[in-house]
Amino acid sequence: MENILIEKQDNIAIVTINRPTKLNALNKATIQELHEGFKTLNEDKSVKVIIITGSGEKAFVAGADISEFADFSVENGGKLAAEGHALLFDYVQNLNKPVIAAVNGFALGGGLELAMSCHFRTASNNAKMGLPEVTLGVIPGYGGTQRLAQLVGKGRAMEMIMTAGMVDAATALSYGLVNHVVSQEELLDFTKGIASKIVRNSSVAISKAIEAVNANYIDGINGFEVEIKNFGACFGTEDFKEGTTAFLEKRKAVFPGK
Ligand code: COA
Repeated sequence: MENILIEKQDNIAIVTINRPTKLNALNKATIQELHEGFKTLNEDKSVKVIIITGSGEKAFVAGADISEFADFSVENGGKLAAEGHALLFDYVQNLNKPVIAAVNGFALGGGLELAMSCHFRTASNNAKMGLPEVTLGVIPGYGGTQRLAQLVGKGRAMEMIMTAGMVDAATALSYGLVNHVVSQEELLDFTKGIASKIVRNSSVAISKAIEAVNANYIDGINGFEVEIKNFGACFGTEDFKEGTTAFLEKRKAVFPGK
C-alpha cells in the first residue's frame, strides 16, 4: 500500500491516509487501497473496530483529487461517482464492523463525505469541514448531498453546499456532524478510548445493529422490520448465550464473536 498505513493493536485497527503533501486528497489509487484495506480488516477476526484518520497535522482529507478529474467527460464523471460509492463510501457505511472517523484537520468534499460514511465521527479542535464542490462547478458526488442532510438537517446542508463554506469543529459539534471535539494531540487516544468500549461488546450484535440503523436510510426498506428480524437472529448466537449467562452469573461477558 503506497497511500495508506494500517496498524493494529488491542482489537482496534487504525487506517491512516498518507498523502500529506496533497493534504491526503483521494486519488483513484488511494480509494482502491482503502477498499482493499477495509475488506482485509473486515475479514480479520482480530479486528473489532476501525478508526480512520489523515496523516500530518493539517488535513483529514482535503477532497477528491481535483487533478485527476479536471478533464473528465459527462460519462467519466458519472462513472467516477458510481465507482467511489461502490468501492469506498457505501462500502464503509455498510461494513459490519464499526468505523470511526477521527477528523484531524480539513475534511472537505470527498474528505467530509468519507467521514460521513463512517458510523460516527470525532474531531480535533482545528478541524474544518465543508463541501466546496460548487466552487469547482460540480456537486458533491460521493454521497454528500444525502448524508450531510441526514446528519445535520436539510436547511443546514443546503446552506453548507450552496455557500461552499467551511464549519469549524465547534459548529460541527453543535450540528451533530461530529460527536466529540478534543485537542489534536488527544484525538487519536480519545477515539481509541471510545473504540475500546465498543471492543468489549458483542461484535455480532453490533453488526446487526449497524444493519438495522442503516436500514432507515434505504428506500423501500422498513427499518423496524429489519430491527425485528435482526433482534430475533441475535437469540441464535453464541454471543447472546454468553452475554445473558454472564449477566446471570454476575461476571463480565467474554464474547466469542459468533
Ligand atoms: N485535490 C488535489 N490536490 C489537492 C487537493 C485536492 N482536493 N487539496 C489540496 N491539494 C494539494 C494542493 O494542490 C497542494 O499541492 P502542491 O503543493 O503540489 O501545489 C497541496 O495539496 C497543499 O495544498 P495548498 O492548497 O497549498 O494548501 P493551503 O493550506 O494553502 O490550502 C485548502 C488548504 C484545503 C484550503 C486548499 O488546499 C483547498 O482548497 N483544497 C481543495 C479543497 C476542495 O475543493 N476539495 C473538494 C474537491 S471535490
